Amino acid sequence: MLENYKVLTVTHRQTNVKNIGNFVVQCTDSSDLQARLRELKKRFQLDELFYLSTCNRVLYFFTSKQPTDTSFQYNFFQYINPNLNAAQIGSDLLCYEGEASLEHLFEVAASVDSMVVGEREILRQLREAYEQSSNFGLTGDAIRLAIDGAVQAAKSVYSNTRIGEKPVSIVSLAIQKLRSMKVAKDARILLVGAGQTNTLVGKFLKKYEYSNITVFNRTLARAEKLAKLVQGKAHALEHISSYKGGFDCLIVCTGATQAVITPELYTLLLQAEADAKLAIDLAIPNNVDKKVVQQNALTYVEIEDLRTLAKQNLAFRATEVQKAKKLLHTCLAEFPKIYQQRQLTRAMRSVPEEIKAIKDHAINTVFKKEVEQLDDDTRLLLERMLNYMEKKCISIPMKAAKAVEL
Ligand SMILES: NC(=O)c1ccc[n+]([C@@H]2O[C@H](COP(=O)([O-])OP(=O)(O)OC[C@H]3O[C@@H](n4cnc5c(N)ncnc54)[C@H](OP(=O)(O)O)[C@@H]3O)[C@@H](O)[C@H]2O)c1
Repeated sequence: MLENYKVLTVTHRQTNVKNIGNFVVQCTDSSDLQARLRELKKRFQLDELFYLSTCNRVLYFFTSKQPTDTSFQYNFFQYINPNLNAAQIGSDLLCYEGEASLEHLFEVAASVDSMVVGEREILRQLREAYEQSSNFGLTGDAIRLAIDGAVQAAKSVYSNTRIGEKPVSIVSLAIQKLRSMKVAKDARILLVGAGQTNTLVGKFLKKYEYSNITVFNRTLARAEKLAKLVQGKAHALEHISSYKGGFDCLIVCTGATQAVITPELYTLLLQAEADAKLAIDLAIPNNVDKKVVQQNALTYVEIEDLRTLAKQNLAFRATEVQKAKKLLHTCLAEFPKIYQQRQLTRAMRSVPEEIKAIKDHAINTVFKKEVEQLDDDTRLLLERMLNYMEKKCISIPMKAAKAVEL
């Protein structure tokens, strides 16, 4: 019954976080992403598809009758990224089918599988990604049910365990790292990107009283909003190459799937300054070009570098993870019932129309002549009796379906 649920995923558990970017759908904007995902669904004959890309995983959750064997996996990721080879796919990819795929989804939603266990960001990201996949016309009933189940299970974990206590996140770990490097409070900080993540970065910078912040973002209005929060300056990203203010610390985090900080741009931003610089790249795929790191004397911090701090966090939560897994198993055990009930309800949806069609066919075709010979009173009585029968007949299978012990 649940065997058509499948997951193909690359996560921080299996590989260096920076490799995850190779398995992400490369796109220029949201409509490009929609077109590529629709083509993926069509090409691989997926019934439904949900796509999630975060800073520590990319997840393709879909329903399909096809086996996800190595040849399927290879073709799938060749379409995503033709530069990937079989060895990379084989070593980085995790594949789950049936109940195991649901278990994985539930663990992701409850942050049990996160690099920073207990972070709540993942639940927001999961919901937003579902909304996106649904708006793209990729999902249907099966995925909706699974996501609903995962969200409910995650909520139960957050409220019945201490997994989310003393909240930490990739961003808070990045700030911890920045502070450990003794960055001066008046250091020139450039924030590139003004989405949810850099907004959180901004809140921490404000909390720790960093006072010299400039924000660049594709949409100026969003840069201005974040600049207001951090009492800094705002510019449109398209003007970044003409920025003359120099910097000490660059914090880059956008949804772009290509490098934003290219070697040429980095050189311009340097303004010929030779002192040590810090770049924190929180995007997956990375937003700072590899060559920038290779060719310049800078301290580069990416999500992978936060793994050690994240592990310390896991030690604190280890016992809560066990409790969370127990709760998730209880929710998972309920899922087949919910799924089957839904299938029954769907199957029953056509019953009223079919019974009505039988009644109409009897009156207007099979017994047409006999009905025409009836006097008005008798015909009215017959119609009332048939309407009564119709109502009663409709409710029988509905009641039976609800009463069945699944
Ligand atoms: N959420 C987390 O917990 C978390 C933690 C660590 C890292 N990350 C990573 O952070 C990145 C952004 O995530 P988010 O949650 O902040 O996303 P978000 O709220 O959707 O914001 C996306 C940001 O990226 C900008 N952007 C998108 N596409 C762009 C492009 N092609 N060129 C230039 N700018 C572009 C957007 O600009 P506009 O305002 O113009 O749209 C916006 O500032 C992702 O790589 C994610 O994996 C997320």
